[in-house]
Amino acid sequence: MNQMKILPKLISRESDVTPAVLAAMGNTASPRLTQMMTSLVTHLHQFILETRPTEEEYEFGLQWIAELGKHTNESHNEVVLAADALGASTLIDLINNNGMQGETMSALLGPFYRGQAPHCQLGDCIARSATPGPKLFFSGRVTDVEGNPIQGVTLDVWQASPVGLYENQDAGQDDFNLRGRFTTDEDGRYHFVSVKPAGYPVPTNGPVGVLLRAQERAPMRPAHVHFIVSAPGYKTLVTQIFSDSPEALAADVVFGAKTQIVGHFVERNEPDPDYPDATTPFYTCEYDFKLVAGISTQPVPPISGKVA
Ligand code: BEZ
Ligand code: FE
Repeated sequence: MNQMKILPKLISRESDVTPAVLAAMGNTASPRLTQMMTSLVTHLHQFILETRPTEEEYEFGLQWIAELGKHTNESHNEVVLAADALGASTLIDLINNNGMQGETMSALLGPFYRGQAPHCQLGDCIARSATPGPKLFFSGRVTDVEGNPIQGVTLDVWQASPVGLYENQDAGQDDFNLRGRFTTDEDGRYHFVSVKPAGYPVPTNGPVGVLLRAQERAPMRPAHVHFIVSAPGYKTLVTQIFSDSPEALAADVVFGAKTQIVGHFVERNEPDPDYPDATTPFYTCEYDFKLVAGISTQPVPPISGKVA
């Protein structure tokens, strides 16, 4: 006898759509993917039902997402920039790195990490081509959360030039300008030379700029230096050390600034024999990083190269 297969009823009203999509995903093998996609579809449909977009608004939204891809290439990542400007990256960061074990607070990676920066000797200067701005002497120690020094820690450092551009955005800067990797000595100490960072606007020539202008949001990031601090046996720390006014820190367009990672940048107007190469004014900043035991990982660089 022929068995009649019972087919689900076809969609005829708004309330039919979410259960139909959830049922269609019912064979997913991975429990985590099931959890994520069930929540994503449920919230997405709820958002649509709540805001009831017109077809023109829907087309505009899809085009905005397509533009994220079109503005992403080897020297720029608009997708990461969008996630950052929407606060998603900082939320993910806080979920995964809450600093509760005494480790240094983290901050988002951002779209400008290239990886593969040159290995440097302690004390080297990462300004590889003529770079404006006063010199910055950055130093400190890396310890575990009990204060024991950690030797052999890699500090991967990068920052924008005071003209407001990372070298990958600026044909006028040498390859890997203001990027370098340093290794701590037997006391966990590190030191390097750079230029004092300045605040800068994030790129606004893509869809993120369209959104920021529509929301009348300033595109500024407060001045900062990026660090990835990593060593075998320790959880990798991705962070930024900030140097700016309270107003600029609070107005960070990507919500990255946190009190615990504001550095003490000291303006020095007198010659100092400890800094024989420095012409005044110059700046010093000492910052000690604390790592918690864990698995050492490396983030995937959002970009790989430099503008041609
Ligand atoms: C940055 O750290 O440089 C950055 C982070 C997020 C968006 C744009 C820039
Ligand atoms: Fe940055």
